Amino acid sequence: MPRKPVTLVTGAGGEIGHALIPRLAAASHTIITLDLKPLPADTAAFVHRQYTGDISATEAIGEIANTYKVREIFHLAALLSTSSERSPALAHKVNVGGTLNMLDLANEQAASQGERVKMLFPSTIAVYGLPDRKTKNEFARIKEHQWQQPTTMYGCNKLYCEHLGRYMARYSATKAVDFRCVRLPGLISADTLPTGGTSDFGPEMLHAAAQGKPYECFVAEDTRIPFMAMPDAVDGILRLMAADAATLTQTSYNIGAFNPSAAEFAQMVLAAFPSAQITYKPNPLRQAICDAWPADVDDAPARSDFGHYPAYDLRRAFDDYLVPAVRRRYGLDTGNAGR
Ligand SMILES: NC(=O)c1ccc[n+]([C@@H]2O[C@H](COP(=O)([O-])OP(=O)(O)OC[C@H]3O[C@@H](n4cnc5c(N)ncnc54)[C@H](O)[C@@H]3O)[C@@H](O)[C@H]2O)c1
Repeated sequence: MPRKPVTLVTGAGGEIGHALIPRLAAASHTIITLDLKPLPADTAAFVHRQYTGDISATEAIGEIANTYKVREIFHLAALLSTSSERSPALAHKVNVGGTLNMLDLANEQAASQGERVKMLFPSTIAVYGLPDRKTKNEFARIKEHQWQQPTTMYGCNKLYCEHLGRYMARYSATKAVDFRCVRLPGLISADTLPTGGTSDFGPEMLHAAAQGKPYECFVAEDTRIPFMAMPDAVDGILRLMAADAATLTQTSYNIGAFNPSAAEFAQMVLAAFPSAQITYKPNPLRQAICDAWPADVDDAPARSDFGHYPAYDLRRAFDDYLVPAVRRRYGLDTGNAGR
């Protein structure tokens, strides 16, 4: 029997998977997933088959390879930045070993199908490492090739995997993996809570305020890094994957949207939830990580090569997406809860 063509999403049970999978299903992808944990029911509803297993091991991947014709891979599974600092050896195993397994799978599938296999890799602003505040201010909008000296295990893992992908796409014997990477800023989703990222202070502040809980921010008020609303991240991923390969001049692309300081972010939260209680107690480790990340990214190549322009600036993200959706999520539609 011919193998069924499918799109594989790893790490499908996470924040991005939750937003991406309905969009892939709407675009008629037959989706299979691989995650350590069973998928939440609302995500599972869109999925043809889910595998529960470890991306850094080969059992489930072998079964997938024998059963399906994998046409595209969205490789989301990873340990995020704060979790990776806590368990660096595990981070290397999952983030690097898992990515290598996916590149191998893509390569083998391309060989058996006689066609390149597309692989989306979500990288991060953690691949950058600025040495001090003066340099961070000077290189306010950083380009892809600048300051690639990551200061975290997560950033090292992601940057190395970007290089592996570029190698497989452009220099290996087969060149059979059509590797495409977006370097995402901190993402803010109204529908899911972040876990283990160093940019989580933004979304955590918002979700705490909506629940009427006090929030102690783990970075200082003047900390500035780029953020993006989840729908723009998913649009960026889908636009990059849909682009004609001939228009792509590089394998890794910044995408950006807005970059408030922690205090500016808090002002937006307070405008929506005036009784929000936000205090600041910088955690030295997490502060140092944010200080090494750029204040903003230059995403001109993403704009010119695959036409990605974010739909949400900071105000529109709050007014049209985040505030209405978190109010619905926490049942605040009476107009006064959370205040
Ligand atoms: N969320 C962000 O702000 C952000 C920013 C930049 C890049 N990214 C990247 O995007 C990707 C997805 O991020 P997310 O926010 O959805 O993460 P998440 O932590 O919400 O989800 C990650 C998923 O991967 C799964 N996973 C972890 N280890 C695994 C393993 N060994 N085998 C199989 N599955 C495993 C987890 O169970 C989880 O469902 C990651 O690669 C991350 O590095 C995220």
